[in-house]
Amino acid sequence: MAFQNQKAELYNDTVVRQFAIMTVVWGVVGMLVGVIIAAQLAWPELSLGIPWLTYGRLRPLHTNAVIFAFGGSALFSTVYYIVQRTCQVRLFGGPLAAFTFWGWQLVILLAAISLPLGYTTGKEYAELEWPIDILITLVWVSFAIIFFGTVGTRKVRHIYVANWFFGAFIIAVAILHLVNSAEIPAGWTKSYSAYAGVQDAMVQWWYGHNAVGFFLTAAFLGMMYYFIPKQAGRPVYSYRLSIVHFWALIFTYMWAGPHHLHYTALPDWTQSVGMVFSLILLAPSWGGMINGIMTLSGAWHKLRDDPILRFLIVSLSFYGMSTFEGPMMSIKTVNALSHYTDWTVGHVHSGALGWVGLVTMGSMYHLIPKLFGQKQMYSMKAVEVHFWTATIGIVIYIAAMWIAGVMQGLMWRAINPDGTLTYTFVEGVKATYPFYVLRLLGGLLYLTGMIIMLWNTLKTATTGRAVNVAVPAAVAHA
Ligand code: HEM
Ligand code: HEM
Repeated sequence: MAFQNQKAELYNDTVVRQFAIMTVVWGVVGMLVGVIIAAQLAWPELSLGIPWLTYGRLRPLHTNAVIFAFGGSALFSTVYYIVQRTCQVRLFGGPLAAFTFWGWQLVILLAAISLPLGYTTGKEYAELEWPIDILITLVWVSFAIIFFGTVGTRKVRHIYVANWFFGAFIIAVAILHLVNSAEIPAGWTKSYSAYAGVQDAMVQWWYGHNAVGFFLTAAFLGMMYYFIPKQAGRPVYSYRLSIVHFWALIFTYMWAGPHHLHYTALPDWTQSVGMVFSLILLAPSWGGMINGIMTLSGAWHKLRDDPILRFLIVSLSFYGMSTFEGPMMSIKTVNALSHYTDWTVGHVHSGALGWVGLVTMGSMYHLIPKLFGQKQMYSMKAVEVHFWTATIGIVIYIAAMWIAGVMQGLMWRAINPDGTLTYTFVEGVKATYPFYVLRLLGGLLYLTGMIIMLWNTLKTATTGRAVNVAVPAAVAHA
């Protein structure tokens, strides 16, 4: 037995560890930029007259850093960890995994340089210029080869549901990126979209919405389906529901993009299709949320003293909240009020901070000690403090944006008896000011929690030692 263990194949946990550490680092960086732009909205002079510190350049830096650097690194890390454990085999593709790590970090670095310099395609969440797009494609194709190669060489017959979500995420993001980034280069730092007019807008929001659907949702649901049962020590509440959840979610998301283009030049029927599919989307979203939360049935007491489980379960509550709010906002008459206002920003961050942020943090707190041969994080007290600072921060952030958003919408549409506008635009801006300061406070709290997490992670890493776990021998030799 002993000599068999010595020869045992090891999981590739090096790449999991690298991405896990960078998740926390990029989380701090991306949220810091979020705090800076939140402050700039309250006090615009904070750009100090320096072009590359202007709001217009830092905003895409924030969105790219939090979505692709923080969220992306978390996904690479957890996908690589989970697919190996659930398939009981080492990652396929050997050195390709290291290429995805260094390639993705290079993409992030190039984004951090090119966006403040003002190079942008102008397409939201796809701002990076074409040479970087090509690098992203190379990394993503490698990611696909590694993931599907690992699933293809698995030692267990069943493909666990988390891998279905990951597979859909990898394929969908590849298609979205290739279609939406079709562009004609005009030099190394400038390109023009292959599409024009309303087609360009439709392709962009088909991309934009599915970036939310597959990058910020499907993939994180895969993470949820693995780490909640693990942390709770219970099987998934209903495995059958998880499969229905999967197919219903990926089918419905693809059609909902037009809700971003209500009352535009897009044909009216297309807008209505988007609205109907968005309303339908409530069902699979809540099915998934209920499945995750109910996994705790019989183990609710664990929430009392396990802050990691609390991160995971509260993330699902925010997921439920934002996927109720989204369908409501997609109703055209509601969107007539909410569009262009801070209500949208409130919705975004209840999903981003509440769902994506908390599920990532919970999963990382479960994962990081294991990667460094520790039983738990260096300080569980700090995990507890992080949970509360983050949760209070989110509530302040989104409540401020909801109030500001509804107020803006109502002020903009208020009309005097003689048909003139009741308020000038600048009066709306002035009324929003206190809410921007409040949002900054919420953001600062959230960032503080993330900085605590960075400290705790570095302590856990330096007091422990990097370990690569062996693939279970019995299965590996089966
Ligand atoms: C400390 C935490 C954060 C703060 C203070 C913050 C702040 C901001 C601000 C001020 C904006 C611009 C809003 C506007 O244009 O009016 C913004 C946009 C955005 N942020 Fe954050 N953010 C934070 C964390 C995050 C995280 C963790 C994510 C994603 C995982 C995220 C995703 C986004 C997205 C997608 C937008 C664009 C929203 C839109 O176009 O409507 N943010 N954020
Ligand atoms: C059932 C699920 C959801 C539906 C139907 C939905 C619907 C919507 C609608 C109607 C808008 C406003 C469009 C506009 O007026 O411009 C919107 C914006 C947005 N939502 Fe959702 N949402 C859902 C879930 C989520 C989740 C879970 C997240 C984040 C993790 C999210 C992230 C965003 C972002 C980033 C935007 C802003 C896009 C932009 O203008 O830049 N959504 N969503």
